[in-house]
Amino acid sequence: MDTYRFALLGFGNVGQAFARLLLAKRDELQTQHDLRWQVVGIMTGHHGAAVNPDGIDLESALAMIDAGDSLDLLSTEPTPQNGVEFILSCNADVLFENTPVSYHDGQPAIEHISAALSTGMHAITANKGPVVHAYRELTRLAQAHGRKFLFESTVMDGAPVFSLWRETLPAAELQSFRGVLNSTTNLILTLMEQGKTFEEAVAYTQSIGIAETDPTGDIEGWDAAIKVSALVTVLMDVNLKPSDVERKGIESLHSEDIRSASAEGKRWKLICQAERTNTGISTSVRPELLDPSDPLYSVMGTSSAVTFHSDILGPLTITESDPGPHTTAYGLLADFINAVL
Ligand SMILES: NC(=O)c1ccc[n+]([C@@H]2O[C@H](COP(=O)([O-])OP(=O)(O)OC[C@H]3O[C@@H](n4cnc5c(N)ncnc54)[C@H](OP(=O)(O)O)[C@@H]3O)[C@@H](O)[C@H]2O)c1
Repeated sequence: MDTYRFALLGFGNVGQAFARLLLAKRDELQTQHDLRWQVVGIMTGHHGAAVNPDGIDLESALAMIDAGDSLDLLSTEPTPQNGVEFILSCNADVLFENTPVSYHDGQPAIEHISAALSTGMHAITANKGPVVHAYRELTRLAQAHGRKFLFESTVMDGAPVFSLWRETLPAAELQSFRGVLNSTTNLILTLMEQGKTFEEAVAYTQSIGIAETDPTGDIEGWDAAIKVSALVTVLMDVNLKPSDVERKGIESLHSEDIRSASAEGKRWKLICQAERTNTGISTSVRPELLDPSDPLYSVMGTSSAVTFHSDILGPLTITESDPGPHTTAYGLLADFINAVL
């Protein structure tokens, strides 16, 4: 039986949910997949770092973060000064990179993942930055070292989107997609329909850990645009940056707009789309007024959905209901199992 040594870079909503999932699935991983794990490093931005080659007690790490204590207290090694130093000091088999996203250049996550792959680790991330800014380079680097660079959780959390195309749809060409891909804005619009103000709705999304560290990224459509970029880059084989996506967020929608849409039996949604054209790819993120006949009309709260159109199959829709950090954590776990089995 193999024991894989894990390094967790970023221990916020997603990193902690992943730690809880690892603890919950420990026996099942062992008995059903013959896999054991040990966490040898955890690093945060402002809550310390722990490196211990003999293994860190994850329950203690979770309790310390809850109590506001520094993870330095769990370390047996000198405190690393940055993410790359941390990765090099861990001697792990798998890096889980879950630091905040950088929409414009994907750093420092790209450096983190490059360092991990170059030293022979698999690299798994929920961070969209490295996918849109360095997908091809990181994939080549992983191949050169016989390792995997996987990122299922970057779009629709734990729902299979990238693995669906990678594993189950060989030789099908993606022509277009349309979906609701940002949980935060969808929940804000749902709460506003229920009578909450914009500010109350935003505060609620932050309190349950689904809004980005800086929620303007969600509200102004950047998170949706980076997801469109990730899908187009990986599944349509065209490099596309978030700034290339025609983008309008929900900041211009007021309670009055939501109320008048409801009165007409309609509702606003932040719609993401991409389509191959004769000259390349046309993409957009923008609020659209949907009537009940639209398949995305009933995607409410934090749920998301995407419909794919390929050259072979008819419309293929994936819907994810009530995602959260725990489902994002599942995408990381699924990537790990797929990387090593
Ligand atoms: N939340 C979700 O449901 C979700 C879903 C899909 C994808 N994602 C993606 O997953 C990633 C993590 O999201 P999250 O919600 O867990 O964010 P978060 O709660 O803000 O956590 C980020 C973590 O990274 C640490 N960190 C920040 N800068 C760092 C650095 N330079 N070096 C080392 N650690 C650093 C933070 O430490 P401090 O807190 O001490 O600064 C914190 O532990 C993001 O890229 C996000 O886009 C999140």
